[in-house]
Amino acid sequence: MARRRKAVDEAMAEPPHGPDPRLHAERLLAWYDRHRRVLPWRAPAGRTADPYRVWLSEIMLQQTTVQTVGRYFIAFTERWPTVRDLAAAPLDDVLHQWQGLGYYARARNLHACARAVVERHGGVFPDDEETLRTLPGIGAYTSAAIAAIAFDRPASAVDGNVDRVITRLHALDRPIPDMKPRIRALAARLVPPRRAGDYAQAMMDLGATVCISGDPRCVVCPLMALCEARRLGIAAELPRKRVKAARPVRRGIAFFLLRKDGAILLRRRPPRGLLGGMMEVPSSEWREGRLDREAALQQAPLETRWRALPGIVRHVFTHFELELSLVTARLPTERAAAALEGAQWCAVDRLGEMALPTVMKKALRHAIMATSAKRVS
Ligand code: ADE
Repeated sequence: MARRRKAVDEAMAEPPHGPDPRLHAERLLAWYDRHRRVLPWRAPAGRTADPYRVWLSEIMLQQTTVQTVGRYFIAFTERWPTVRDLAAAPLDDVLHQWQGLGYYARARNLHACARAVVERHGGVFPDDEETLRTLPGIGAYTSAAIAAIAFDRPASAVDGNVDRVITRLHALDRPIPDMKPRIRALAARLVPPRRAGDYAQAMMDLGATVCISGDPRCVVCPLMALCEARRLGIAAELPRKRVKAARPVRRGIAFFLLRKDGAILLRRRPPRGLLGGMMEVPSSEWREGRLDREAALQQAPLETRWRALPGIVRHVFTHFELELSLVTARLPTERAAAALEGAQWCAVDRLGEMALPTVMKKALRHAIMATSAKRVS
């Protein structure tokens, strides 16, 4: 009995055979030739794209939608048309231009990577996955995407869309995070030796427009006849979801300090970690659990009479939610200098020039409205 169970388990653990790679690529590429999306970073049909533009778009697309990335990509490439231009830019300018895209470590790595390409590779992007991976901010997915799209190397770029396509093609019946190595192996088996760049983008487009999450549009799918989930009638049920743990809530107090002339006290965050290197309204630590106002007020940038502002600013980060309460105080100009260590005063009409993350823009807007100063643009 035990031996029989073992044999069954082993048979179940075998990777499913999956579609014939040649047929799969042929159908997908024929579909791509007719339905490819026009995107600002894409080369016209039959041409390979500039590696700088491919790299820049892939970094921007890591945690952001195609629609949002479009205008940022255009602004970046107009301002910095080559990797040398970007490498020569001050980091603050890059962070500022990045505002609204979130995950600011990406912007810092972007800048470090541009400098590394110039310093270590003479301003020319390496064309193989292994060397690309040695550059800041470039991991397994991004190196494969650049190698395939910019250099037509048969590299397997597996992002969230491709995870879903592979899961359905093979009717993989477990949540994606539990099957990563298997998905990677099955995806690599399907990459064709030619037109690898088009193939990578075709898989992304298929995932984004046809093999979408929720209700896939199987009737218009070029891979319908090759798809195991479709054959079994379970495409809409896949990928299986893992039960999500609720995000913890952190709380803190932000100190909206005004100089007599209306300038606001801002501070630069430490270079590493969450929102590293960005500007902020000084705040207490952000801690889970009930807000201990007394303890939080002890962390004010200076001792003065703080007045509570009504309302709360909420912001959702990947791993937690933040609730910021605000307090405010006005300082006569003579005392203002004392507060300045590691911080700077900023006039309201210059806030737009600061590298402020979205959460801090929300906090500033809220505080300015509540103290009835001018609005932030
Ligand atoms: N998502 C990530 N990279 C992409 C690309 N190059 N084209 C379309 N969608 C993408």
